[in-house]
Amino acid sequence: MEHLVEMTAAYAARLGRVPTAFVQTFGCQMNARDSEKLRGILQDAGFAEGADETADVVVINTCTVRENANERLYGHLGHLNSMKREHPDKLIVLCGCMMQEPDEVARVRRTYSFVDVVFGTHNLYRFPELLARRLGGEKRVFEVWEAPQEMVEELPKKREVPYKSGVNISFGCDNFCSYCIVPYVRGRERSRRPEDILEEVRRLAADGVIEIMLLGQNVNSYGKGLAEPITFAQLLEQVCAVPGIERVRFMTSHPKDLSDDLIAVMAREPKVCRHLHLPMQSGSTRILKAMNRRYTKEGYLALAGKIKAAIPDLHLTTDIIVGFPGETEEDFQETLDVVRRVRFDSAFTFIYSPRTGTPAASMPDQVAPEVVKGRFARLLDLVQTIGSEESLRELGQTLPALVEDVDGAHPGRVTGRLGNNVMVHFDGGPELIGRIVDVSLDEAHGFYYIGHRA
Ligand code: SAH
Ligand code: SF4
Ligand code: F3S
Repeated sequence: MEHLVEMTAAYAARLGRVPTAFVQTFGCQMNARDSEKLRGILQDAGFAEGADETADVVVINTCTVRENANERLYGHLGHLNSMKREHPDKLIVLCGCMMQEPDEVARVRRTYSFVDVVFGTHNLYRFPELLARRLGGEKRVFEVWEAPQEMVEELPKKREVPYKSGVNISFGCDNFCSYCIVPYVRGRERSRRPEDILEEVRRLAADGVIEIMLLGQNVNSYGKGLAEPITFAQLLEQVCAVPGIERVRFMTSHPKDLSDDLIAVMAREPKVCRHLHLPMQSGSTRILKAMNRRYTKEGYLALAGKIKAAIPDLHLTTDIIVGFPGETEEDFQETLDVVRRVRFDSAFTFIYSPRTGTPAASMPDQVAPEVVKGRFARLLDLVQTIGSEESLRELGQTLPALVEDVDGAHPGRVTGRLGNNVMVHFDGGPELIGRIVDVSLDEAHGFYYIGHRA
């Protein structure tokens, strides 16, 4: 790190001003949390935060979960190249999940010669050294590790907002859903030690954070492989007990590992937000089996029913993939059936995207794109109709909202998030940002409320 501070100072001297750096996140919450670490490193090194891609150093934290994430990167690179021609001192850094794919790194090396630094998910903590080497005159610095080595706890972090934060509880994934590239680019599942997690949460609370989002690809399998085994339900209770923390969320829950203990903790612990994201992926048992999800349609329905019965005010959301190889109209009807029966408050719907190296990519019977598009449109229509009926069912109640922003479109109004993850716009000024206030939910507008301070 000292080396980077020196090199940054030399860079500043060359430019004749404090250099700026901009970190862009292309992926999920985990990717966003990594970006906060990158920003922390850049800040400690002496960079000012840039507002956009005109910054001197542009870091793109890539995602590769679906093909369109990759296309987005290559689209951006063309634009960055023309900016770099105008400003030759500009540096372009690529990291994140897509850089764990050898073919993509080879393509960057070959075709995008203006990219200065490349690293992956496993060696993020080496960013200071890699950037220092580039600033010190090395031409192109590429370093990607195939597998994780040690877990580095002490990285600086610069939070996006002062009042809430993600906290990693595990890294990687062992589930190998047959369509998914995450286990290949994030490595095997590793749980952080509970004392390290709790220490981070206590520090965040001392720093003014009131809402925590516990992050893992499958939080429900947290604790496996630790010297002193602990369950996710137990960890969640301990996080809730940290003074100053008022809200706790978590992401993502795999249905196959969601325990009755967890449901019990969620039901009795008021700090746990009334929102559960429970990806179902498909409603067809046959497709679920081919996806290697290890639950059935009936199993998912029973679990959703059990959770809703235990916590009636909980909002349930999900992820659904359309067009997995071999999906027939009957399979798709099963998915629609689960959506109608569970009545999700909202759902992310995705068109299946073949990922190189995953088992599903080489399965026969890939579904024709026009068939998939038709199904996708029908599914989207159904989830939106149900979501708009279901998600605003607290109309007329008064609930606490965490104020996140001023409402850009309406001066004198702010935007808050309810525990159940629904947004509400109401009267107030910027001084409310980061505070939890009670709001009466007066009007339902599709997927959000208009309210007033109670
Ligand atoms: N670990 C989480 C999230 C992983 S990625 C989980 O298991 O739920 C987020 C979502 O992207 C997944 O839930 C899935 O719906 C979707 N997804 C993953 N791989 C995909 C692919 N190849 N094509 C389309 N959608 C995919
Ligand atoms: Fe991918 Fe499945 Fe792991 Fe989620 S649980 S990251 S979908 S392999
Ligand atoms: Fe994308 Fe990596 Fe997250 S592939 S979805 S950024 S774990």
